[in-house]
Amino acid sequence: MTAVLIDGKAFAERVRARVAGHVTRLVEEQGITPGLAVVLVGEDPASQVYVRNKGRQTREVGMASFEHRLPVDAPEAELLALVERLNADPSVHGILVQLPLPPQMNAELVINAIDPAKDVDGFHISNVGRLGTGQKSMVPCTPLGCLMMLRDHLGSLAGLEAVVIGRSNIVGKPMAMLLLGDSCTVTVAHSRTRDLAQVVRRADIVVAAVGRAEMVPGDWIRPGATVIDVGINRVEGEGGKTRLVGDVHFESAAERAGAITPVPGGVGPMTIACLLANTVTACCRANG
Ligand code: GUN
Repeated sequence: MTAVLIDGKAFAERVRARVAGHVTRLVEEQGITPGLAVVLVGEDPASQVYVRNKGRQTREVGMASFEHRLPVDAPEAELLALVERLNADPSVHGILVQLPLPPQMNAELVINAIDPAKDVDGFHISNVGRLGTGQKSMVPCTPLGCLMMLRDHLGSLAGLEAVVIGRSNIVGKPMAMLLLGDSCTVTVAHSRTRDLAQVVRRADIVVAAVGRAEMVPGDWIRPGATVIDVGINRVEGEGGKTRLVGDVHFESAAERAGAITPVPGGVGPMTIACLLANTVTACCRANG
């Protein structure tokens, strides 16, 4: 392997330490404890793990963690009423409704019921619009974590060719907006892109966020490029054991890339660290 490994776990630890410092100052100097409310509807096992990790890390940096659970068959009105209560609660600075929601609930409606100033996911339509027009906004956590790692590794991104593979509202589209904001030349590729290999080959920066195991082979990577792999895919490994792989074929890509994030231990840990950072930002904005 010739690429530099971008260690998201270590980076996330540094971000959390910085957040913890901010929290200490807010508590000691202003008597304010930032608070994050996480809402989980139903008992999806993966969502339960995420929510548990969010709660633990929130408390570890000294913030208040409020966890709300609703049964899988709860009516949408019950969730909307809870969101309204959290919007009005001054001890809650950030609200996250864990997705996906059960089918009787309209996720768009629920997300847009969150006070945009408390929308630490950055999914509210007003935050999406603000990001798209270069105004101050809450920025979705996963793309924000990717941007932080890119800036840390490359310094200025101005003028670089960036290819984002995937056009989801959660990662692909906001990632493209952030890279544009840093003056990259941005291409958003997706399942209907013609000759994806050729598109990826011209990239100085590749952000892969499609959710398909190892779909980007190493020979698509331009020598020296920086590769950020957002994918977390469970595949069957040797002896029937499952293992996690990204959207990029790591071993072959690491022979050509200048730098690459591993899976696990790359983008993943940065997502919750950025959620905590967004909560402190929301708290600071709410308190002038
Ligand atoms: N489910 C999976 N990822 C996310 C996320 O970033 N935010 C929310 N709210 N739900 C998710």
